[in-house]
Amino acid sequence: MATGNEPTTVLATPNIALVKYWGRRDSRLNLPTNSSISITLGEGLSTRTSVLLTNRIRNDTLYINGERHRLGTAKDEKFFYIGRVLDELKRMDGTKKRMLVVTENNYPTGAGLASSAAGAAALIHAASEALGLNLDAKEMSRVARLVSGSGCRSLFGGFAIWHMGKEADGRDSYAEQLYAPEHWPDIVDIVAIVDRGRKPVSTSEGHERTRASSNLYKYRADHAEERSMRLMDALKHRDFESMAHITMRDSNSMHACCLDSYPPINYLNDDSVRIMRAVHMLNDAHGEMVAAYTFDAGPNAHVITTRRNAERVMAALKDSLGKRAELMLLGQGSGPRILGAKESLIDMERLRPVAHE
Ligand code: DP6
Repeated sequence: MATGNEPTTVLATPNIALVKYWGRRDSRLNLPTNSSISITLGEGLSTRTSVLLTNRIRNDTLYINGERHRLGTAKDEKFFYIGRVLDELKRMDGTKKRMLVVTENNYPTGAGLASSAAGAAALIHAASEALGLNLDAKEMSRVARLVSGSGCRSLFGGFAIWHMGKEADGRDSYAEQLYAPEHWPDIVDIVAIVDRGRKPVSTSEGHERTRASSNLYKYRADHAEERSMRLMDALKHRDFESMAHITMRDSNSMHACCLDSYPPINYLNDDSVRIMRAVHMLNDAHGEMVAAYTFDAGPNAHVITTRRNAERVMAALKDSLGKRAELMLLGQGSGPRILGAKESLIDMERLRPVAHE
């Protein structure tokens, strides 16, 4: 049973999918048409979320980066869903208290850097902890999936798989850890930020438009499921060559489906294409794979490489992007962690986000 006297604060990080979730068989329950596999990223990009249970506010309230959103009655689909999921968690606990949630990203929201994935993982972890529900990570991932599909993978460190599942109610569609970061610690991600703006088409709209209109997408579902299986094998054997191959082909497949949607969706820009070219040139020059690019729903690239090759990959990216290059080297993250009271984002007197210096 929740005590709710103190806020619970959790830090979570985004993940980058090597085999991607794109298109849903059920958009209300966020059920995918293929399993997906990701790397949870280190703490250079992170989301912090504080949850407080209290009688001192009238409605469940969520602040994202200082902006206030009312839940439950919210008109925005995303917030409506978040409200419903939190209601469900509160029902499990039996509390009548309201929930105050304050969340902050240390990086741009909505720019295809998976801010909502980290947000969903942090929120569900913190809410379940605040309510004293003792959900295990698999159970939390199933709940996080309802808030952000890809978010279910951010509940685990290292490499995670989200099983597509077959059941109509989604009970077998959850994530689990494939390998902790220690399995293959050499793997790193260079994030190349080429645009900090919001994506032109939301992922929600993208999933739906592609499913409804792309012919290519019909092929993708089967291929992507098979790619997930092959990627599991590559990860098991720490086979960079195969991993790189599968990763780039899967990203290209997702973006081809986007372009094949009608009206077409193009998340990439000229810099994204420059990065793709630079990675292929680098791999050709080495006569083996040293890097693999992958893009989520935005033009910013994730270039997967090894610690050993990271410097030369960064140099190649700088060469191709010139002054526009904003690169960040991230290792693998260990999954969400609970922070101490000092790191809470809630001003307990005013029941608002703490003021920033
Ligand atoms: C392209 O529906 O999970 O990142 O909830 O907005 O984060 P948000 O998006 P979501 O779709 C993400 C799709 C993707 C690929 C992936 O992460 O698998």
